[in-house]
Amino acid sequence: MLTQEQNDELTRIGPGTPMGAVLRHYWYPVAVTRELDEFPVKKARLLGEDWALFKTPEGAYGIVAERCPHRGASMVYGIVENGGLRCGYHGWKFDPEGTCVDILAEPDSSPEFRRRCSIRAGEAQELGGLVWAYVGDGPAPELPRYEAYVMDGIRDIGHSMLPCNWFQIMENAVDPYHVEALHGNYFEFIAANKGFDMPSAFSHNKHERVAFDPFEHGIIKRRLLQGQSEESDDWKIGHPLVFPYKMWVGGNGVFQMQIRVPVDDTHTWMLFYTVHAPEGADLPPDPPIVDYSYEWLDENGEHLVDYIEGQDIMAWVTQGEIADRTNEMITKSDVGVVACRRMFRNALDDVAAGRDPVAVVREPHDVIKLPLERSKFGRGAEFATEWIDRGSMRYSPIAEELKQLHRDAEAARQSMES
Ligand code: FES
Ligand SMILES: [Fe+2]
Repeated sequence: MLTQEQNDELTRIGPGTPMGAVLRHYWYPVAVTRELDEFPVKKARLLGEDWALFKTPEGAYGIVAERCPHRGASMVYGIVENGGLRCGYHGWKFDPEGTCVDILAEPDSSPEFRRRCSIRAGEAQELGGLVWAYVGDGPAPELPRYEAYVMDGIRDIGHSMLPCNWFQIMENAVDPYHVEALHGNYFEFIAANKGFDMPSAFSHNKHERVAFDPFEHGIIKRRLLQGQSEESDDWKIGHPLVFPYKMWVGGNGVFQMQIRVPVDDTHTWMLFYTVHAPEGADLPPDPPIVDYSYEWLDENGEHLVDYIEGQDIMAWVTQGEIADRTNEMITKSDVGVVACRRMFRNALDDVAAGRDPVAVVREPHDVIKLPLERSKFGRGAEFATEWIDRGSMRYSPIAEELKQLHRDAEAARQSMES
């Protein structure tokens, strides 16, 4: 149980808040690359602030405060030009660093004068089909090139805006018992009552042991299920909460970064960023990047709980816009949640002392590989196809092709073996 002050400290992320200062040490996706290719300027909301994100005709990305410093019109309705973004109202032009480089009605204005007319700017760049932004103070760290964003494979990005604080979603990343309860017992109950099959990989997963190991990118979560040996990937390897807003999960040729972008105190842009790369797959030379939004409410406004992530979303959203932790009952089985809060607490202390918090990457690098089970729950291609059928990927426009990719890869592996 937390006091109201402690809960506020953990969950409030706007400008001037302690957690806002922690989170402003990281890069976040703010758009899908496709969106800016279709239209070169887009509104982005991140950490409780509004921004205009743009791509110039030369291919440079920029992000500036939404409000024009001249008289406050929205830069989202600006003109994208070589070298920057020009406000639509009176034509002040800003480069990607935010410097005012031209004032339409004052062509003789001096560079010194224009410098005083600058707009607040962050940094933006593209990686793995997403456009990422850094809006913190000081020199931007490296954009971490986690394996998900650079590996070969077919990219399938499901994304929707959820009306809840990002932190309760992060607590879910270190909460293995919910898999047994929510994606096991509850799934069985709903499937039996609504008359559909649930993924067999999720039934009867009794947890015997769980473990949480802090490491330089977050917390590795491991589980030992009833009947599994200590040599199983689930216990020996596990998978991580990636600090401060992701989880890396998958197995059996499916690799998924779950990305929980803290849009503001009560909204999270939730992306299921999945790379399909089963061993033995015949991948096309230029594998596609597909994105779509997934549904989580039915036509009556009730939660869709007949798929895995829909069940998670039900739990996150029904906890409230910001979960009330002054009334909770934390018990022994919530040990992962406690470890998660401790890591965020340490990050608050680090930032208050002027240090980088955990998982800020300053070293240039090609790729960062994170631990991940290769054989999840001891399953093969069946795990992948069930996940596509009964996960958010069922909304993918290429769901059938993806399932075929996994079946073909399994057949290819089997024929190699025989
Ligand atoms: S409000 Fe943007 S140029 Fe006047
Ligand atoms: Fe879950």
